[in-house]
Amino acid sequence: MRKEPPLSSLPSTATTNALGKLFICIETKLLVATLLSFTIVMFLWNLPPYYQNFISTTRPCTAPLTNSVVVSAVANTTAAATSLLSTNVSLPYTANPVARKYNSVPRPKPRDPNKRVFESYGNAAALFVQMGAYRGGPTTFAVVGLASKPIHVFGKPWFKCEWISNNGSSYRAKAYKMLPDWGYGRVYTVVVVNCTFPFNPNQDNAGGKLMVNAYYGESQRKYEKFTALEEAPGSYIESKFQPPYQYEYLYCGSSLYGNLSADRIREWMAYHAWFFGPSSHFVFHDAGGVSPEVMAVLEPWVRAGRATVQDIRGQAEYDGYYYNQFLVVNDCLHRYRHAANWTFFFDVDEYIYLPDGNTLESVLNEFSGYTQFTIQQNPMSSMLCLNDSSQQYSRQWGFEKLLFRESRTKIRRDRKYAIQARNAYSAGVHLSENVIGKTLHNTESKIRYYHYHNTITYHEELCREYLPATAKDGVNWLNKLPYVYDDNMKKLANTIKAFELKTIGSKPEALTNNDGINPIQIDSARN
Ligand SMILES: *[C@@H]1O[C@H](CO)[C@@H](O)[C@H](O)[C@H]1NC(C)=O
Ligand SMILES: *[C@@H]1O[C@H](CO)[C@@H](O)[C@H](O)[C@H]1NC(C)=O
Ligand SMILES: *[C@@H]1O[C@H](CO)[C@@H](O)[C@H](O)[C@H]1NC(C)=O
Ligand SMILES: *[C@@H]1O[C@H](CO)[C@@H](O)[C@H](O)[C@H]1NC(C)=O
Ligand SMILES: *[C@@H]1O[C@H](CO)[C@@H](O)[C@H](O)[C@H]1NC(C)=O
Ligand SMILES: *[C@@H]1O[C@H](CO)[C@@H](O)[C@H](O)[C@H]1NC(C)=O
Ligand SMILES: *[C@@H]1O[C@H](CO)[C@@H](O)[C@H](O)[C@H]1NC(C)=O
Repeated sequence: MRKEPPLSSLPSTATTNALGKLFICIETKLLVATLLSFTIVMFLWNLPPYYQNFISTTRPCTAPLTNSVVVSAVANTTAAATSLLSTNVSLPYTANPVARKYNSVPRPKPRDPNKRVFESYGNAAALFVQMGAYRGGPTTFAVVGLASKPIHVFGKPWFKCEWISNNGSSYRAKAYKMLPDWGYGRVYTVVVVNCTFPFNPNQDNAGGKLMVNAYYGESQRKYEKFTALEEAPGSYIESKFQPPYQYEYLYCGSSLYGNLSADRIREWMAYHAWFFGPSSHFVFHDAGGVSPEVMAVLEPWVRAGRATVQDIRGQAEYDGYYYNQFLVVNDCLHRYRHAANWTFFFDVDEYIYLPDGNTLESVLNEFSGYTQFTIQQNPMSSMLCLNDSSQQYSRQWGFEKLLFRESRTKIRRDRKYAIQARNAYSAGVHLSENVIGKTLHNTESKIRYYHYHNTITYHEELCREYLPATAKDGVNWLNKLPYVYDDNMKKLANTIKAFELKTIGSKPEALTNNDGINPIQIDSARN
């Protein structure tokens, strides 16, 4: 479903190199951080352009991988800045000039014929397009949006945050930005602005609002000011930001687009509702892919409180990477940052699977010391089936009949991941690069995912090529790729179908007639 970005910046290829760089970076940053603390003392709140310079001068030694180091260095200087200022932080804004509005009002012609006039028409990309702003804890907020990519690539825009309390006080916070889309943005790039205060600015629960200043460049004078978030009086609930969380597992789906098969979505949903269990929730993002037929299969799960479908069709106006999938995963991360122990990021043609004997709980207990772990894929053929006259393929589910796994080893494959969201500052597609804590990659004996690429928008019978019964026992070469028989998913099919029936009742009318339960299947049920 999702268009995968190339893997150039994935960790296992880059780790060794980046590690060396990383240490140099850290030392440089400590030095710079120390120097910066002095700068801060001298310039107090007038420092943002210097602060921004600090970030950009350190950028050359931050390969995409080392962004998390930037985060901690910034966090440290931020802490220094805030402790210096915490004696009195409620200074009023001093930036007087009102943000300039650009429009094409014709200007009078100059007298001097050699004085040339530059007439502009229309607008290019906006300075900032907000998708969401969320409280990320008692003292911290994240503002998630898009920003003009050229401004961020060629300029030095920065942000400032302020809390205006309903009780009349106001406080300012340091803001730092992350660009989590690995440079894949187009006209727009994804920006996550982190505003962290030295204390909870709404401690008395009088309510208030988070204002953000977005600057066009280094200059303090040219900026746009907007209200990112409002908290109604009494609406702050401290316990929401501490465990236990509402769910154990949350699924953040990326943008759904194209003519999706309702059958496949129905199967995916039933499987994962079973797999993650009752304490889980699924968030889908409809970028045009949720047709009435697809909605009909999701509807029962939405009604049962198991799923949420967000309409993000408005994203089409903003040209980002693949239906703005990087924007969507970051919005989801921050929206649900304290909603679940673990947040999973993968696609609707991918099925998480636990190899023999593992339970999700035991695996995640084992991983609990890590902020995130990545998941290796089992790539499945989208058309190979067994020539077996006892099977009625037209009545079977996709994962029940596509049983040939492409078996090359020692090649790099895309990975997906899960994260303890409270320790993450931004999200990616294959992993997050802005986290605090460790990442685990060596997970394939504990958890994997089956990937049924090219099945999700296919509306005809999936079985299109048949292998003889003997194909079960060996390696089968097709188009120069080796395939082996793998019926792990098929073994679960009856359990899933029974679970679906028990949980939401019979299937929606819109679906093809494919819910036959095959009595001769061996079921390794775990429920
Ligand atoms: C902050 O700086 C201190 C030293 O001043 C260091 O021990 C600590 O690890 C740093 N924290 C982060 C998050 O980088
Ligand atoms: C900041 O200074 C003003 C004026 O001196 C004072 O009224 C206010 O209480 C101070 N705020 C804090 C948080 O110390
Ligand atoms: C913002 O960054 C700080 C560290 O610099 C972190 O502690 C905090 O959790 C982050 N907030 C969000 C909402 O990501
Ligand atoms: C407003 O609320 C903050 C905490 O939320 C508190 O520190 C401050 O004293 C309050 N100011 C007034 C004027 O009540
Ligand atoms: C989720 O977190 C709670 C509270 O920290 C803990 O009791 C529970 O075991 C965790 N569940 C999982 C599946 O990690
Ligand atoms: C989607 O695919 C179905 C089945 O092939 C077809 O009937 C329908 O017209 C398609 N919808 C769109 C919008 O292309
Ligand atoms: C499947 O096998 C039968 C005989 O077992 C054969 O007649 C038929 O042609 C095969 N079909 C395909 C598509 O290979």
